[in-house]
Amino acid sequence: DLRPSSLDTFTDEENMLRDAVKRFATEAVGPKVREMDENEQMDPLIINGLYEQGLMGIETSAEYGGAESSFTSAIIVIEELAKVDPSVSVLCDVHNTLVNTVLRKYGTKEQQDKWLPQLAQSKLGSFCLSEPASGSDAFALQTRAKKHGDNWVINGSKMWITNSYEAEIFLIFANIDTTKGYKGITCFLATKDMGIQIAKKEQKLGIRASSTCTLNFDDLKIPAENVIGGEGRGYKIAIEILNEGRIGIAAQMLGLAQGAFEKVVPYTYQRQQFGQPIGTFQGMAFQIAQAAIEIESARLMTYNAARRKEEGKTFTKEAAMAKYWSSVVAQRVSGQAIEWAGGVGFTRETGIEKYWRDSKIGAIYEGTSNIQLQTISKFIQKEHS
Ligand code: CAA
Ligand code: FAD
Repeated sequence: DLRPSSLDTFTDEENMLRDAVKRFATEAVGPKVREMDENEQMDPLIINGLYEQGLMGIETSAEYGGAESSFTSAIIVIEELAKVDPSVSVLCDVHNTLVNTVLRKYGTKEQQDKWLPQLAQSKLGSFCLSEPASGSDAFALQTRAKKHGDNWVINGSKMWITNSYEAEIFLIFANIDTTKGYKGITCFLATKDMGIQIAKKEQKLGIRASSTCTLNFDDLKIPAENVIGGEGRGYKIAIEILNEGRIGIAAQMLGLAQGAFEKVVPYTYQRQQFGQPIGTFQGMAFQIAQAAIEIESARLMTYNAARRKEEGKTFTKEAAMAKYWSSVVAQRVSGQAIEWAGGVGFTRETGIEKYWRDSKIGAIYEGTSNIQLQTISKFIQKEHS
């Protein structure tokens, strides 16, 4: 087990969860990873498996059918799934850290009674903020909502929406009053049967089994009771949830780096060239040691941010740092892993190159690396001026 001793701060419950998820990822997900990547399709049995394992309402209270576990537990699940398949990891991540959390934090009792059990037991969620003309500049979104009697009517479109091909519950951010700028942004809950049109499904470099689609809303009617967190509060909900969500992406990238490392390092001690295992040449051994340091640093940063959040301390800067750094480490380690394995690392068959393809997304979604740097630099300015 390559888990570092410096992080022996997990509870028995968290360690048991890690072991259970590791088993599920290895036995149920592992055999399907390549096929899902090649077909660009998530196997529905895996989504069912996540529900059966109780991983789709990790922090949701037991009365709603959730596991009522800690935020750190969610981070553990995301990390363990990513070691085997970052696509399955992000499906679970978005559903838990973004969708469930919005409802747990901002939903009324009635909204929680209605939606949290469905999300914990069978219905997949997606978080719809980005649009063709507003990615990093998310609050410039152009989707509009107008009140008609007891309903809101939404027009516009969203782009890049994870899980949207399989999802049944959609959190949609739309502006109800553009004279107020981003303070008109409001969060709505819609279900697929209200008339959400799934348009283009993207073909991607990595996380190909995770669906990413454009959604069109053409007079989409949403009942007034489905406004989450109050009119005009959507921008704050979006960014506060993303502050937490970024720890999830840090965990996804951490798991990816560890997964690539674990897949290739043992091979370097078996493969012989010049009469000795390639991993024992100093040129290789030092690269492997360097990668281990980087993974350790990403792990410490990710779980530090998670614990800070859990303990009610400030965590936004630490989350941005962890997300930024884990993405760098994931790209570096997975890229090196290909080189450590030589020619076999470059083939599809071994699954090593897939980690590297999957790693690129860490620097893009839930705020690009530049957006993380911008967030961190704002804190530095505040702290030092
Ligand atoms: N935490 C809390 N509040 C924040 C904040 C933060 N990190 N950053 C900004 N705000 C608040 C400000 O306080 C301000 O609110 P008030 O007026 O109430 O004080 C408001 O947001 C606007 O602030 P700015 O003018 O400084 O912000 P901006 O408009 O220039 O940019 C931002 C704000 C859109 C949040 C930008 O910083 C950002 O994070 N962009 C990236 C968007 C993103 O992460 N998208 C992810 C989509 S979901 C996804 O990607 C899921 C997935 O793939 C798996
Ligand atoms: P842009 O904002 O156009 O950025 C392009 C480049 O410009 C980047 O390098 C960026 O860092 C740089 N840049 C932009 N502004 C600045 C600045 N102020 N300073 C310095 N550099 C800057 N969104 C959702 O809402 N829900 C989802 O579920 C979701 N899932 C996604 C899944 C995938 C696979 C992908 C690819 C995206 C997903 N997104 C999702 C969207 C994602 O959050 C955006 O792609 C991301 O925020 C970047 O926006 P953009 O693609 O428009 O790039």
